[in-house]
Parts: sequence; C-alpha cells; structure tokens
Amino acid sequence: MENPLAEGLSLRRRPDPCILVIFGASGDLTSKKLMPALYSLQLRGLLPEKFGIVGAARTQESDEDFRERMKQAVKDHARDPFRQDVWDALAAGMHYVTLDFADDKGEDELRDILTKLDDERGTGGNRVYYFAVPPAAIGTLVEEIAERRGAEGWIRLVIEKPFGHDLASAKALNAELQQHFAENEVFRIDHYLGKETVQNMLALRFANGIFEPIWNRQFIDHVQITVAESIGIEARAGYYESAGAIRDIFQNHLLQLVAITAMEPPIDFTADSVRNEKVKVLKAMHTPGPKHVVRGQYGPGFVEGQEVVGYREEQGVAPGSTTETFVAAKLFVDNWRWADTPFYVRMGKRLARRETTIAIQFKRAPHPPFDDGGEGLRPNVLLIHVQPNEGVSLAIGAKVPGQGMTIRTVHMDFLYGGAFREGLPDAYERLILDAMLGDATLFTRSDETEEQWALVDAIVAFWQRDRPSFPNYAAGSWGPAAADELLHRDGRSWRRH
Ligand code: BG6
Repeated sequence: MENPLAEGLSLRRRPDPCILVIFGASGDLTSKKLMPALYSLQLRGLLPEKFGIVGAARTQESDEDFRERMKQAVKDHARDPFRQDVWDALAAGMHYVTLDFADDKGEDELRDILTKLDDERGTGGNRVYYFAVPPAAIGTLVEEIAERRGAEGWIRLVIEKPFGHDLASAKALNAELQQHFAENEVFRIDHYLGKETVQNMLALRFANGIFEPIWNRQFIDHVQITVAESIGIEARAGYYESAGAIRDIFQNHLLQLVAITAMEPPIDFTADSVRNEKVKVLKAMHTPGPKHVVRGQYGPGFVEGQEVVGYREEQGVAPGSTTETFVAAKLFVDNWRWADTPFYVRMGKRLARRETTIAIQFKRAPHPPFDDGGEGLRPNVLLIHVQPNEGVSLAIGAKVPGQGMTIRTVHMDFLYGGAFREGLPDAYERLILDAMLGDATLFTRSDETEEQWALVDAIVAFWQRDRPSFPNYAAGSWGPAAADELLHRDGRSWRRH
C-alpha cells in the first residue's frame, strides 16, 4: 500500500492530471467542505500528481490572501491534523481570479491562468469546473466554458445544489447544460450519496444474501427515515427563505435515501445501472395527498441546553415568514415490491438532536408463544445510523435470563468506529475524487433530478392554497404534533428517541 492513510480508497487509480476551478470560492462551502476535503485527499496521496486549483468569485482577493484564507479553513475544518508539507504541496498550484460571472475580463484572466498552469504543471487541458454558485449564475458560465473549450483534455462540470428551484427551472438548467455538454460530463452533487453509510446501504442490501429475500412488502411493515438537525439556518437566511426544508433536504437528500432503500438490485455498480434503478423508484412514487404531508416551522426553545430564537427571529428572516423548516410525509412507492408499504419521512432544523437514520421495521412475528414481560413484544427493526455514531443495528427479541420465558428487545450492533481502522472520509472527498475520475455513479442524472422536482412541485402546489399557522413546534422538540398524528392515524409511531 502506497500510503497507509489511503485505506479503502487505495485500490482506485489516480485521476489524470487536471485543474480544479471552483466558482464561488469565497463561499462557505469552499472553506468548510471543499478545501478540507482536498487537503485530506492530498494527505492520502489521492490527488493527481500534476494538479492545480483556481478559486474564482466576485470578491477581490490576491492569490496570497486566498491561500492564507484557505490554509486557515483547512486548519479549522479538516478532519486530519494540519501538516505544513502537505499544505505547501497543495498550495503550490493554487490561484485566485476575481470574476463577475457576467464579465468577460475575469474570463480572460481565468483562461490565461489556466493556460499558464497547464504549461507549468502539465495538466494537459483537463478541467473540473465546480459550481458552488446559485443556479442563475450557471448558464453564462457554462456557455463561456463551452465557447472557450480547447482541443486538448476533458471537461467535467460539478454542479452543487440547489439544482434549480422547481421542475421548470431544473429542466431549463438541464437543457442549458445539455446544449453544450454530454450527460457523462455533468456531475450533479447530492453529498448524501458520498456518505459512507449511505453507500453501505447498497453493500448491506446487495453484498449479503440474507436481506434481499425479506426486503419487500411481505416482510416489511413500514420504513421510517429521519433527517434531523439541531442547528438552525445559521447565516443562510437569504437562501433558506426561498428554499425551505422541502427544497433544501426533501428534494434531494431525503428522496435519495428513499430511492436507495427501495431500489431494485442494479446489474452492476456503474453510473447508468445504479441510476436507472433509482429513477424507477422515483417514477413509482405517487404524490402524497395534503393529509399525508405535514409542514412546520420552529419557534423559540432550547436545543441541547442552549436557548435559541425562533425561525422568524433569525437574522434576515421576514417576521411573518411562512417558510417551512420541517417536513414529514407518508410516501408510497407503487411497485410490486413496495405497494401499500408506507415510507414515513421527516426532516427538520432545530430538532432535539442531529440524527439521520433509516429504520426498516419488519412485521411482527405471527404467533409468539411467549410472555412479553409487560413491555409488548416489539417487531424487528433494522436501523441504519447514517450519522452520527455511524453503523447498523438490528433489534431482536431475546430471552431474559432466569426462570420462565420472558422476551425483551436487544440490539445487535455494527459500529464503523469499532470495525474499521480508518476514520470515515467526508462525503466531499469521495465525490471530488469521483468527479476527477469521471465516475458519475454517486451523482444524480438529469431525469432523476427532474423526477425529484416533480414530486416537490406537486406538494408545494397544494401548500399554496392555504396559509400555515407557524410557528408550530418549539426548537429542541421533535417537530409539530401533526407529524406524530400522521403515524398515530395508522396505529404506528415514530421510533423512540
Ligand atoms: C445541506 C443543506 O445540503 O445539507 C443544509 O443545505 C444541511 O441545510 C446540510 O444542514 C446537512 O448536511 P449533513 O452532511 O450535515 O447532514
């Protein structure tokens, strides 16, 4: 093994020499996620040997200041300790261009820097363009890139979310991209797909023989997916006010978790095979009726012992805002495997704690001949802890030691921390590397994105008919009472916390 830290990723080939251009380099994503991920990749020797980074944004900044700021970002946010030699190697090919996205001058400067870097570092015209900018800024940039495309090298476009604002804008964006680039050159990011635990759902289902035979409506009573965050909207009111939880989490991360849980086995682990199966799930999901969707907004409260303000009091939020910070829904995947099996999903900000889980609740044993010890014999649950405490846990009934035959629920646990030496890489490490390698398996395809938006549009359309009465849950709780009723009506309840 070349580098012991590269465990797991070491079997992969190294990407071709290339330059990564980050549009939106002055934003939070670049300092909190992209640069720390690049640093961790550099530390493990996974980046191409011939490599350059160009940050581009509207803010005026010199190369030197950009490097300094990025160095601090790595110190603050990288999962690995800071090492000067690793940083120096990464920073050696790092530049910054001030670029107003509608201004040709910046574009010329960018082209000159790229040509210079190609000469100096031997990057051969290969480019990864990373769009960490709002959707409206993408069109012009993509056109410029296409116009200035040289004869040498490959181009890959990595597009951050939000990918449009609704179905119409997502279609328009797809059309713009497809006018100049092939689908295999476009990498739409959903960083949940880069999470180890999400990929492990595929391993769990398709690398083991024992789950697939029972992974269906005959054995599964229902599925519960929770994406709970304890943080509020931080300094992102501008974006969040027009997005809300439905566009921020439901449209992308949440629907991807449903698709991965419900998909059929792909014939191989290639981009099209995997995405074909996910698209089938999304197509099979019918729009939930208004009674099956609950929206909420947090009021003031206490989160993890700290007093926090309500959403409407957050800086930059309109005092009478009707933006939702919580969504719960009962979804159905109408196909042979899942017909009539509810997928209950919920996601929200300022909930009691950070927790993303997928719970597969199996049907009860048909006729247990035992005493339930008063607690009620509970059905088996397979629990995927996406984060934190990453792992998988199976709830089973076991005999309580002693006389008689009393049964109690116990857990069989697999924890990443205990099973593997290497800490979990950040999702962005995986995804940046995949884009450089041209592997789109963990990125969303145009039709997939559009299916996701179609579902969101239908929900948003019926929300527009009435004004919600917000706030309807206290910060630090588990969401509005109506979210509990959604399950109680069916004689079920959210998993105990
Ligand atoms: C982002 C959302 O896509 O995902 C944020 O825009 C959210 O609002 C974040 O906080 C959650 O990501 P993670 O990896 O912390 O679960």
